[in-house]
Amino acid sequence: MKITTITLCAAVLLTLAVPVQAAGDPKAGQLKNSMCAGCHGIAGWRTAYPDVYSVPRLGGQHADYIVAALKGYQSGERSHPSMNAIVGSLSQQDIEDLAAYYESSYSGPAN
Ligand code: HEC
Repeated sequence: MKITTITLCAAVLLTLAVPVQAAGDPKAGQLKNSMCAGCHGIAGWRTAYPDVYSVPRLGGQHADYIVAALKGYQSGERSHPSMNAIVGSLSQQDIEDLAAYYESSYSGPAN
């Protein structure tokens, strides 16, 4: 029993110790961005459906942060109806590509 617990703890620690890989391709990410741009790509970082509301600015954000956020929406650790719905279709590669694209595309200060 004790050994099982120790093994489990070691496995969890090992998983946590693996650094987040942000090996995305910004060009590929740009192509995948069409399903995000309707909300995240509008100057002023607002979108209009169903009401006008603000969205976070992603351009210039760290890729690791974006990867962590998207995985959080996938796992349900973060919850937001739009984001939980959209991340369902993303693969690990999609997430890394999108993160690399957004990191490399600083889109100016929010206004
Ligand atoms: C329908 C509008 C909409 C679409 C489409 C959309 N998002 Fe979002 N996104 C939001 C909103 C609103 C939030 C803020 C949610 C919250 O408060 O948790 C958000 C949050 C995020 C965050 C977290 C930002 C932060 O600073 O915490 C990331 C990363 C993100 N979106 C990436 C994407 C990507 C990549 C796509 C395309 C695959 C996408 N979003 C598509 C509306 C959208």
